[in-house]
Amino acid sequence: MSFSKLTVRDVPLHDKVVLVRADYNVPLSGDKIGDDLRIRASVPTLQYLKEQGCKIIVMSHLGRPDGEAKPEFSLAPVAARLSELMGEEVVFLDVCYGDKVTQAVKSARAGDVILLENLRFHSEEEANDKTFAGKIAKSSLARYFVQDGFGVVHRAHASTEAITHFLPSVAGLLLEREERIITHAMEDPDRPLYAVMGGAKVSDKIKVIEAFVHVADKIFIGGAMANTFLAYKGYDVGKSKVEPDQEATLDSIYEAVRKKVGDGNPDEFIVLPVDVAVTTKIDSSSKRHNEKVDSIKPDAIAADIGDLSIEQFTHQLAKAKTVVWNGTLGLAEMPEFAHGSARVALTLASTPNMTSIVGGGDTAEFVLKWDGGDGESFSHVSTGGGASLDLMAGKSLPGVEALLEARK
Ligand code: 3PG
Repeated sequence: MSFSKLTVRDVPLHDKVVLVRADYNVPLSGDKIGDDLRIRASVPTLQYLKEQGCKIIVMSHLGRPDGEAKPEFSLAPVAARLSELMGEEVVFLDVCYGDKVTQAVKSARAGDVILLENLRFHSEEEANDKTFAGKIAKSSLARYFVQDGFGVVHRAHASTEAITHFLPSVAGLLLEREERIITHAMEDPDRPLYAVMGGAKVSDKIKVIEAFVHVADKIFIGGAMANTFLAYKGYDVGKSKVEPDQEATLDSIYEAVRKKVGDGNPDEFIVLPVDVAVTTKIDSSSKRHNEKVDSIKPDAIAADIGDLSIEQFTHQLAKAKTVVWNGTLGLAEMPEFAHGSARVALTLASTPNMTSIVGGGDTAEFVLKWDGGDGESFSHVSTGGGASLDLMAGKSLPGVEALLEARK
């Protein structure tokens, strides 16, 4: 399967000024970066451009500062971490266009990296404003635009869409890798392909669940999403979180499943927990105990899949050739309710010859902590949250669509 867009490898970038869109929307507390996956993942493209002798201007957003220059959303801490990873100083500018940018580019040497301030300090960024994009393109003196911010390509913003009207625009190595791996898993996976879906809401992931009904060989459901499925099936889930008004959605999912499995049992295709780990209050002193799904007590709150379900899920997952995992299976930020997610992580990390793809967002954050930081126990930990879900769901990604098409 080939990636249909031109990449940095396809165009003559030698000694050129190049404007790169990264996604450095990383968790920050003060100036401490919680998880630097997105920064690390951007390095191969920057190194490649450096080897080409480019002057490299990098831009990104961070958080949702609503068009205001709020210091707590500055990209300065990212510049410091990127400098460490690149092994040399990355110049940080407190603006994203204008004379200051042009002067910095003029005085940069081949291979230098300049990081611009948070694009979302300007409301024009999210408005996909062409004038704003034009100012960035012009003041950067760039000859090419490189889209490498996979996590943000589902947004049509000035730095992902409008900018491509000003510069020849190609994909970076991270974007290409994410697209190839995720598209391969959805279109031509090694089978069996099992999907693990968790997190809070069915409605957030409906398109992905529908896509997996078509492509996967089984779907395992955990997290609060499982409560909604269990309630739909008529189980009393006590005080557990259930998403309201999902009957029609689940009717259509099960209808598609029945079409797919024919005479088979839909419950063997959509695998729900047979027990849940419950508590009566959620706080740091909460203790888990297991209740079968047909005997959940009225005051119980399900906060993880139960021990029997953990055994059943992991026993079956170990037989997969490809697993795509999106959404933690319980309140994974609390160790007491992270057992299900941790055992799934262990199964994916330790099963030989398995391609394991972990969706971004909370699931990536969980596996990186579980893995001690680098995620290398898995075939691929995506840097995209919403973007990876949209790609799996087969939606078009405006930031990718806007790039130059490779000749067939
Ligand atoms: C993400 O973290 O999903 C991307 O950086 C996009 O951020 P957004 O949801 O604030 O647009």
